[in-house]
Amino acid sequence: METRLGDAITVDREVQFGEISYPFHIRAGRSSWTELRRTLTMLDADRFVVVADSGLPEHLVAEAKAHLSSIAPTVVLTADATERAKTLATVDWLAEQTIRTGATRQSIVVGLGGGLVGNVAGLLAGLLFRGIRLVHLPTTLLAMSDSTLSLKQGVNSQQGKNHIGLFHPPVLVWNHLDFLETLAPEEIRSALCETVKNVLAIVPERYDDLARLLRTDARYPNANLASVINLCIDAKTAVMAEDHREKQSALILEYGHTVGHAIELQSDGATHHGFAIGLGMLAAARMSRELGGLDSSDEAAHRELLDRNGAPTAAIGVAAEDVLGLVRLDNKRGYVPRRASTCDFILLDGLGRPRISDGSLITQVDEEIVRAGIASILSEPH
Ligand SMILES: NC(=O)c1ccc[n+]([C@@H]2O[C@H](COP(=O)([O-])OP(=O)(O)OC[C@H]3O[C@@H](n4cnc5c(N)ncnc54)[C@H](O)[C@@H]3O)[C@@H](O)[C@H]2O)c1
Ligand SMILES: [Zn+2]
Repeated sequence: METRLGDAITVDREVQFGEISYPFHIRAGRSSWTELRRTLTMLDADRFVVVADSGLPEHLVAEAKAHLSSIAPTVVLTADATERAKTLATVDWLAEQTIRTGATRQSIVVGLGGGLVGNVAGLLAGLLFRGIRLVHLPTTLLAMSDSTLSLKQGVNSQQGKNHIGLFHPPVLVWNHLDFLETLAPEEIRSALCETVKNVLAIVPERYDDLARLLRTDARYPNANLASVINLCIDAKTAVMAEDHREKQSALILEYGHTVGHAIELQSDGATHHGFAIGLGMLAAARMSRELGGLDSSDEAAHRELLDRNGAPTAAIGVAAEDVLGLVRLDNKRGYVPRRASTCDFILLDGLGRPRISDGSLITQVDEEIVRAGIASILSEPH
C-alpha cells in the first residue's frame, strides 16, 4: 500500500463509507503532478472550475492551473479562507461565475485549499446542476487527514458554523504533501490535535505509534505525514462505515468539541480549532473520570499526547462561567430531549470506548460535573 523512495510517497487507498467510496491518494515530489494529470484525464471532464484558497502562495495556484489546463479548459476562482467569508453568498457568487464560464454537468469542481475552501467548493459542487463531480486537492494537514474524510459540505449562517449544507462525496482526493511546505507550524499542530482525538477516542492501539511520532517543532518527514493521514483514514472509516452522515457511531468524532467550540467562540477565533478541541478533550476526560469511565492514567494519556504535539493543555484568559454559558447554548445536536441543569456531552468509558447512555453516544451531564471539567483546564495540572 505504501512505499517510500527517498522523499517520494505512494499511498493509494479507497475510502469506503457504507455504499459510498472514493479513491484517496498521497504523493510527494514532482512526479505527483504527472500522475495526477493521468488520473484526472480519465475523469473526462469538459472543464475544471478550481476554487482556490486566496491564502495560497501564487506559484502553487499557477502550477495547479497549468497542469489542469493541459487536460481541459480551466478557470480559477478564489475564495477567502475565513469563517466570515464561508457563506452561501460566497457559494452563490462562485456558482454565477462558474455557470457564466460555460460549466456543464460534465465539468468538475476542484477544491484547492484547506478545509474551509474545501467545504465551500464541496457545497458548490453539491448544488450546481443538483450535483456535479468534486475533486479535492487539499493544502492543509487538517484537510488531508480530516475534512476530506467526511461527506459533509457546509457554510456558516449568521447564527453559527456549518448550519447550511449537504452531503456530497468527492470523486477523488489527491494529497500532494509538497503543498504543506508553506503551511504555518501552528496549522500542523492544530490538525494533529484531531489525530490525537482519533487515537484517544477510536484507535488507542495506535497510541504508542503516535506518541513516538509527535514532535513539538511540527517538522515532519513525508513518511510521518503519510502515517498520520493513514491513521486518520483507519479511525474515521471505522466509525463512519455504518454512519456516513455522522449522526450515530460517528458522533464520537465530536469528542472534545463541546467545550472546544465554547473556547473557540470565546476567543473569537484566536484559538486554533485543534487547540480548542485539545482543551475540550481534557475537560471531557475529567468529566468521564468523575463519572467513573476513565481513570487518572487515561486522563494523563490525553495530556501526554497534547504535550508531545506542542499543543496547549491549559486555557489562558478564559472564565469558567463564560465557557459554561456557551456550552449551555451548544444545542446543535438536539438528538435527545434536554434535561434541566444538564449539558450534552460525548464522553469515554475507557480509551477507544464511547460512553453509551440510553443507547446514544450523548450523555446528559449534570452542570456540577461540567463545571469540574472546565475547571480542570483553567489551571495547570495538579
Ligand atoms: N466537512 C467536515 O467534516 C470538516 C471537518 C473538519 C473541518 N472542517 C472545516 O474546515 C475548516 C478548517 O480547515 P483548515 O484547518 O484546513 O483551515 P483553513 O482552510 O481555514 O486554512 C487555514 C489557513 O491556512 C492557509 N493555507 C491553506 N493552505 C496553505 C498552504 N499550503 N500554505 C500556506 N497557507 C495555507 C489558509 O489560507 C488559511 O489562512 C473549518 O471551516 C471547518 O469547519 C470541515
Ligand atoms: Zn474538529
